Amino acid sequence: MTMHALNIDDLREIARRRLPRGLFEFVDRGAEDEVALRNNRLAFEAIKLNPRGLVDVSDRSQEISIFGRTQQMPLAIAPTGCAGLMWMHGAIAQARAARDAGIPFALSTASTSSIETIAEQAHGATLWFQLYLWNDITLSHQLMARAAASGYHGLIVTIDSIAKYEREYNIRNGFSMPFRLTRRNVADVLMRPRWLADVLLRYLLTSGMPKYENYPRLARRSITSTPGKAMSMSETMTWEDFRTVRSKWQQALIVKGILCADDAIRARDCGADGVVVSNHGGRHLDSARAPIDVLPEVAEAVGGQITVMVDSGFRRGSDVVKARALGADCVLIGRPALYGTAYAGQEGTALAIEIFRREIDRVLVQIGCKTVNDVRPTHVVRP
Ligand SMILES: Cc1cc2nc3c(=O)[nH]c(=O)nc-3n(C[C@H](O)[C@H](O)[C@H](O)COP(=O)(O)O)c2cc1C
Repeated sequence: MTMHALNIDDLREIARRRLPRGLFEFVDRGAEDEVALRNNRLAFEAIKLNPRGLVDVSDRSQEISIFGRTQQMPLAIAPTGCAGLMWMHGAIAQARAARDAGIPFALSTASTSSIETIAEQAHGATLWFQLYLWNDITLSHQLMARAAASGYHGLIVTIDSIAKYEREYNIRNGFSMPFRLTRRNVADVLMRPRWLADVLLRYLLTSGMPKYENYPRLARRSITSTPGKAMSMSETMTWEDFRTVRSKWQQALIVKGILCADDAIRARDCGADGVVVSNHGGRHLDSARAPIDVLPEVAEAVGGQITVMVDSGFRRGSDVVKARALGADCVLIGRPALYGTAYAGQEGTALAIEIFRREIDRVLVQIGCKTVNDVRPTHVVRP
């Protein structure tokens, strides 16, 4: 398997060939003109590494501790609703791969695997649950209670997904939400017989069309139906609602979608234990800044007080090392994990994580650092 995928870009190419086009583009592409998507990568290219020589770099370690737990790498799997369409029960595959690699796995509200199933099937994993603040906030609170009862260690509140997104290529491909069968996407699926047999038909022959398993029981619909209004993103939520979440959640509480120091400070003041600097992988606001550019401002404002994480566009171990240098405790990966899952389920996800591990290790040697904790701001030069 390693022969076919030497890096994340190779995994992406394999995923492109395996998945129906509409599904691949749903995962891979960005909002509107994809300026944010491209800029997420360009921002990494503009940051250069500044190595030191003649340092003893034997006995290396990528271990970090966040939220009172030790993990083997400064990496976590980001919440993505559609892991279960990459592979049959893809979210379980991701959670198990994360557990075996000693890193956290974040389950999306929109997952087709339930909170309880993941806790049961990936026993021993560090699990975080991602929450949307819905119009009917009591339904969001019920999800939190389920996550707490299932032993989830962290709750991620995503704050950047209020606007209903209309990505033009998804509409053209017939892959907007809810997913609808059209002549074009049926033809698309027929062009990928392996995915059809291994994923879609296996679902249809066993449990039926995948459902949003975390939705309240009465509203639990398949991915081809429209979610009820109660589960639409609320446009009226404020930091006060976040404070209510804080009062109901005892474990680590994380705000995802931070793009300025002010909001990071606000999150801290409202009781957050951590933030994720994120532009949702360039999928929502096309003119958003690249999170890696925002990171130093956030780290300066709240670093050392709460946990600072970052995502969007991480594809190489060197990107993770740059983020460490700029003040991140941990990095989340969305698409790289999905590409791996599309390739080979749990093994493919494990391969994506392993690619990052190997690359981070190589860069640590090259810049003269024994551990990820030794990486300093002076190891990078920003434009
Ligand atoms: C297909 C897809 C679905 C996603 N679904 C969610 C979601 O349900 N909740 C959420 O907070 N973020 C979601 N995200 C955003 C990711 O959590 C993460 O912020 C983003 O993927 C990071 O960028 P990257 O893909 O370049 O690593 C999704 C991303 C993708 C690609």
